[in-house]
Amino acid sequence: MDSAETTKHLSRELDAYAHWFVAPDPAVGGHFLALTLLAECGDTARVAREVTAVFLRAAGAGDLVDDAQLVVSELVANVVNHTVPDRHLARPGSCRRIDVTFKKYPKWVFMGVSDEDSTPPLLPVGDTFPAALVGELSEAVLPDSGRGLLIAQRLATSVWWSPEEQGGKTVWCRFDLDQPGACSV
Ligand SMILES: Nc1ncnc2c1ncn2[C@@H]1O[C@H](COP(=O)(O)OP(=O)(O)O)[C@@H](O)[C@H]1O
Ligand SMILES: [Mg+2]
Repeated sequence: MDSAETTKHLSRELDAYAHWFVAPDPAVGGHFLALTLLAECGDTARVAREVTAVFLRAAGAGDLVDDAQLVVSELVANVVNHTVPDRHLARPGSCRRIDVTFKKYPKWVFMGVSDEDSTPPLLPVGDTFPAALVGELSEAVLPDSGRGLLIAQRLATSVWWSPEEQGGKTVWCRFDLDQPGACSV
């Protein structure tokens, strides 16, 4: 599907389901987008991936789509799997909210995934096994969880989190864009 078709497909879905909401900001030339999702809806990660692709292509950062989709999947899945909203943000019987924010600048793309839980994510500070060794180890000794944020750290230039004023937090990633004419050293 090309970008125009995907956009059409997404707006049809938006009409069909009331569980997510996109707010582009025309003031910054379409280079800012906020997407609200609900953790309890089964297709949350898929919607996040599709909107990520539409945003990046429209913003002229199509080269980032594959990496950013994988990262957004991991961050959204973490909200679904690990968060318990702060008591004052929890609404009995209702879904947990996930806000995904995209900001494109000439040199960077920022992507933030916000949730209602003030517990920080456990960002890895080291690597259990060096990549070169993984192929030689049997599946049994490799950890089967705790890889999502490691993947995000590998694919993005930088990953961090910040607390939100009213409670909850945002996990942020920055992707540096290749500069035309820039020479690598
Ligand atoms: N949004 C989040 N809120 C609270 N805790 C989180 C969040 N994201 C990650 N975590 C914590 O960080 C850990 C590592 O996350 P991750 O690397 O994605 O591994 P996994 O999801 O497989 O456990 C999680 O097990 C969880 O304890
Ligand atoms: Mg995870």
